[in-house]
Amino acid sequence: MIKPRARSTKPAEALLAWYDAERRDLPWRARRGEAPDPYRVWLSEIMLQQTTVATVKDRYVAFLSRWPTVEQLAGAPLDDVLAQWAGLGYYARARNLHACAREVAGASGGFPREEAALRRLPGVGPYTAAAIAAIAFDQPCVAVDGNVERVVARLHAIDKPPRKVAPLIREKAAALATPSRAGDSVQALMELGALVCMPKNPDCPACPLSFICAARRLGAPLDYPARPPKPQKPRRRGAIFILRRGDEALLRRLPPKGLFGGMNAFPSTPLTQDVPAAAFAGFAPCAARWRALEQPVTHVFTHFALEATVFVAHTRAKFAPSDCRWAARANLDKEGLPTLMRKAAARAGLVDA
Ligand code: ADE
Repeated sequence: MIKPRARSTKPAEALLAWYDAERRDLPWRARRGEAPDPYRVWLSEIMLQQTTVATVKDRYVAFLSRWPTVEQLAGAPLDDVLAQWAGLGYYARARNLHACAREVAGASGGFPREEAALRRLPGVGPYTAAAIAAIAFDQPCVAVDGNVERVVARLHAIDKPPRKVAPLIREKAAALATPSRAGDSVQALMELGALVCMPKNPDCPACPLSFICAARRLGAPLDYPARPPKPQKPRRRGAIFILRRGDEALLRRLPPKGLFGGMNAFPSTPLTQDVPAAAFAGFAPCAARWRALEQPVTHVFTHFALEATVFVAHTRAKFAPSDCRWAARANLDKEGLPTLMRKAAARAGLVDA
């Protein structure tokens, strides 16, 4: 009886064995034993920047059949290239693609083989240069894209965001490569990220590297890669003016456009602007003995966090200032005040907190 070949316990070998069995047949991949065409590899990598494999597949085939060689692409008018690119987005890519084709077609030896020289071509960044050098020329380069970051972060349970520990991710990715099959090694890692070690539903039982995966051992693959902390929202200061007349308070209807557009609100400083305390008085709806409450109200909006000082004053005025009206305190709950304004009303004791 022929024994099935034992699974390798060396991660790099296990990864390639898996890739050999499971790799997708994608139009830019050379068939087994066939030498890769640098033009095809380059074109696919440019198209795959910021675009999914599913979207790129048919578009790639159409593009290649129109311009089968880099010389033909270089000879095409830019407008034709842009039109063929339509729908793929990020049109700077198409412009760079054309510029790069012209540069390569004009050079004596076609595409350069070295990562550093590839990097100097228009539209070719560090990831793309490494991917082309490895896939087209079998150079032992480390190409780290989002898929690779995720696989490596999980394998080693790296608890820092990948961009913060890029050298460590590169080192760990390099350790998974087989130098004699550099191109396949790069594609195997990407493929594992795309087919098995997926962002939301990793298929750990199908993974050829699960036997070394620290995130799996911890039972928490979804905790990796660690996400960078959300950037702090800018803080803005402002003031809200609550003018009371007996059992009434002054409300203003806001213009239809802008924050709280069309809603009823207490007069305030322009809330999307940061207004320093010294300038608050200039925004009061009328002259009065304004008293600032000790505790400001705070509210977090989509793009900023606001801290608003609440001013209160009492008046016996007959009329309301322009754009304003008197609203009965008992009805304030029915005025549909924005949350921030409701917080201010509660702070001033006009409604329940
Ligand atoms: N994403 C970027 N490059 C790729 C490639 N060569 N194969 C599959 N997905 C990719």
